[in-house]
Amino acid sequence: MWKFTTSKNLNPDSDEMILDTENIPKHIAIIMDGNGRWAKSRKLPRSMGHKAGVEVINKIVKASSDIGVKYLTLYAFSTENWQRPKDEVSALMRLLVEYMRKELNNLNKNNVKIQTIGDISKFPQICIDVLEDSKLKTKDNTGLVLNLALNYGGRAEILGAFKNIFNDYENGRLTKEYIANLTEENFNKYTYTAGIPDPDIIIRPSGEQRLSNFLLWQCAYSEFWYSDILWPDFTVDHLYKAIFDYQKRDRRFGKVK
Ligand code: FPP
Repeated sequence: MWKFTTSKNLNPDSDEMILDTENIPKHIAIIMDGNGRWAKSRKLPRSMGHKAGVEVINKIVKASSDIGVKYLTLYAFSTENWQRPKDEVSALMRLLVEYMRKELNNLNKNNVKIQTIGDISKFPQICIDVLEDSKLKTKDNTGLVLNLALNYGGRAEILGAFKNIFNDYENGRLTKEYIANLTEENFNKYTYTAGIPDPDIIIRPSGEQRLSNFLLWQCAYSEFWYSDILWPDFTVDHLYKAIFDYQKRDRRFGKVK
């Protein structure tokens, strides 16, 4: 149903479902929301919703990689998610370990590089081990970067950057002048996403229209795309539709065209 073409063959006024292969977002970030409601509507435990949510990930990774997305950031566990019932937190940790163990070879074969943002040191050792192993094994891959946001919070990230800048000053690695003249570019080097371009588009399914502490520093000029679909029902079609809508947006970055 979807067609792909280059900019010069595209009619901007047409509503045909055609994606411009020269305007694919470099960085897509997704808030994988709605697992709980998906499970509830089926009278299943919330953990089953998360399990169904994990099953969507591979399809989205593959489709993103196929159309040339460079970075895919998935919000998998926020700094606030610790406040969920203990068994739900444990289920999420278990699903993460299972996913990495099951899919690592496949991801590696497909040239996917695994990275994380957030403070994973607070995770159970088994999660840390499996994540570090996945990062190590895929570190030289040059394809899609699958960036998992784990124990991630935008405010914590900004505070952490600030504290690290202060530490570097205390240890003599930064001068007072450097801090007095701190630029956005230099501050960026202290964030989890140092070296990664800001997300072009943030996708949030499930009907909620908020950021929930996701990529607060990085989203300054991101396009937002919302949908009522619950994450376990999210398909490649929805991804393409989000990109299709994104390609129709006029990104001015505060300037005039
Ligand atoms: C939000 O839905 C979802 C989460 C807090 C967790 C998302 C995590 C996964 C899909 C699994 C992570 C694992 C890997 C392999 C990255 P919700 O529970 O808030 O849904 P609700 O709003 O309907 O209750």
